[in-house]
This record gives sequence, C-alpha cells and structure tokens, in this order.
Amino acid sequence: MEMKPVELKKGIYWVGAIDWDLRNFHGYLTPRGSTYNAYLIVDEKIVLVDAVKQTLAEELLNRVRDIIDPAKIDYLVVNHVEPDHSGSVPRIMEAAPGAKIVTSPRAQKGLQRYYKKEWNYLLVNSGDELKIGARTMKFVHMPMVHWPESMATYIPEEKLLLPNDAFGQHIASVERFDDELGWEIAREEAGIYYANIVYPYGNQVNKVLDTVSQLQVDMIAPSHGVIWRSHIPGIISCYRKWANHEAPAKALIIYDTMWGSTRKIAQALQDGLEDGGVPVTVRCLQTNHISRIVPDLLYSRAVLIGTPTLNNGMLPTVAAMLTYLKGLRPKKKLGFAFGSYGWGGQGATQVLEALQEMGWEVPLEIINIQYHPNKKELEQVREAGRKLALMLKLFNEKGDEVHGPESSA
Ligand code: FEO
Repeated sequence: MEMKPVELKKGIYWVGAIDWDLRNFHGYLTPRGSTYNAYLIVDEKIVLVDAVKQTLAEELLNRVRDIIDPAKIDYLVVNHVEPDHSGSVPRIMEAAPGAKIVTSPRAQKGLQRYYKKEWNYLLVNSGDELKIGARTMKFVHMPMVHWPESMATYIPEEKLLLPNDAFGQHIASVERFDDELGWEIAREEAGIYYANIVYPYGNQVNKVLDTVSQLQVDMIAPSHGVIWRSHIPGIISCYRKWANHEAPAKALIIYDTMWGSTRKIAQALQDGLEDGGVPVTVRCLQTNHISRIVPDLLYSRAVLIGTPTLNNGMLPTVAAMLTYLKGLRPKKKLGFAFGSYGWGGQGATQVLEALQEMGWEVPLEIINIQYHPNKKELEQVREAGRKLALMLKLFNEKGDEVHGPESSA
C-alpha cells in the first residue's frame, strides 16, 4: 500500500513519488534513493506544482485521487523540464485534459522538444502572479539553478516556496520533513546534491538567495527529499557558503595507484599536512566513486590529486575525476599535483595542467617519483605536506572567512 498524501499546510499536499530503488542519477550515485516531490493545492482552482518521473506517474495520480479527481486539475505548474519531473506530464495531461500548463516560455519550448504534444499553456515571466482563489502563485525564474528554464513558485499567503531542485536532496524516506529525518542527514544529502548538481552555478545561486531573503518563507518544499520547515536558516546558510566557495582549512587527497607508489606519496603528504595541523580526508579512486568525492570539496580548501603514469598519461580513473571536476568548476582551491611513473612521467604534469586550467592556486611544483619512493624521498614529500599546511593557513587568511560544515541555526 502506498503512503497517503501528506498535508503540508491546510489544503496543500505532498503527492509526489518515492524512488526507493534509484541508485544512479545520470552518473551521480544515490545509495539512499530519491523522491520526486509534487504538490497539490486545493483552492478555487486546483493546482499541481511539479510532477514525477515517467515510471512513477500512477503513484502520483493515486495520491491525487485520494484527495480529488485528477480531471479537476486546472493548472499544472512545470518549474523545470528535466525528465525526472516532467516525464509524467503526458500521463497527467491525459488524466487532466482540461488543465493548462503554467510554465516559462523557455520551459514550453523544452516540453515541446521532449514530448511533441499540443497542450494548453499559460506562459509566465519572472514576477508574474496568478490568483487561484484565496492564494496567489508568484513565479520567480532561476536561470541555471540548474537549467536555463528553472523556476520557483512562491505562495505568499502561505509563506511557502516551491523551488524545484534548489535545496533538494536525493533521499528516499518515509519522513517528509527535515526535523523528522534529522538535520545531519538532511544537510549531508543537501551537500552531496549541491556538489553534484548545482556546484557550477554559485553566482546564480547567490541571486536566488538574495531573492529568497526578500520573501517571507516558513517552508521550503523542494522537488527532491525532505521539506525544510525547521532548519531553513541552516540550509540557506550552507547554500550561501557553498555558492561563495567558502571551505574550511582542511585538505582532501584524491589519488589512484598501480603498484602502491602513489599511495605511499599520498600517505607522506597526509603526514606532512597533519604535522602542520591540517585535517586530511583521503579518497582512493579504486574505492570511492567520483560523485561521492566531489562533496568533500565543499569542506576542503586544499585539494591534492595524484596519479601514476599509464601509457603517457593519467590513469583513466584520475582523468574521469578531473573531467567531472572541470565541469563542476569548484573555485578558491589550493591545488597540488603528484604521482609516480616508470619512464614517461606525464601523468602528474597533466594533473597540474588540469588544476591550473580550473584557476586554482598551485604554489608548489609537482612531486613525481620514479618507480618507488625511498625513505629520503618520502621525507621530502612529507616536508612538502608541511609547506602546504603553512600555505593553506596563509591562503585562508587572505581569502574569505572559513567555516566548517554547518550546524543548524
Ligand atoms: Fe530534479 Fe534537474 O531535475
């Protein structure tokens, strides 16, 4: 038996779907699954805000049926065209043939490209309002948070913000609210989501946060995961820090290894950084997926990346990590490249070039050691780690104020 709709506010219901089995969201591992949240507003007009992925359309419609005949839906608000939300729009429009789709002109084009259907539209621009009875829906465009057509719907009478993907988390749970799930898990998953989905768009996120700060909001109901009602200042504060690329004075070492040499160098770097009082997170690419490493960058100002040389280049795992990072564009990092090699030795240099291409500060020369490091070389590596610890402190002093993972406000 499916979970019943959940009433968020009088006459406003969560009617989304829970994807317990989702383990991969276009390359982003989701070991906890996800939800696609949709919200039914029962007023003089019946409004469905957002939808779910195609395979879960009936789950959504069954929840709507618990409240009202879907044929009575007047408006379907499409805040975002990505198919995890819009995939069920054709099925919903069959069930609600009289409904108009309320969306941005850009999203209309996207829906037409995806679904090739003739639907009735009510196109809205940023700042437009639509009266639905006792309530008003106000639309705020949020370009590139995280697609060009992304939009939020705000209901001022309810102090309710429906920002689609922003503030979301990929987690399947019976809990619908942040305080039911717990701040720590909600924040952790919101960070993982931010790092994998929203990281490149810090400037645009800051604009959204500026807009949200002008609104009266006591509930933020995103399109994935739990609804924020008890930790709104906490999650907004996290988003501001992530958008500004603020990170604590900690280090992250990412590496792969063929015969253990690059691992030894990574361990000596860790020892040196810890000598200098810097906490270090270590992620080997053989045991950590790239999508689970990226969130560590939110909490690490220094990022050290190491590779052996294979066939005149980096190991493919390291190349994949760097390709992913280049797309996500983390900023304000102190970088360092290292590696080991047999004869060519190009791998570490290629890592260095990738770090520089991302605009990171890379103050120390690469460490690149042939075959296997000896005791003296490992001591030199450790010394480089100590130097990096010192540089990290200086880098932080001249940079932004640094904060650790947020505790709830
Ligand atoms: Fe949840 Fe951008 O889709």
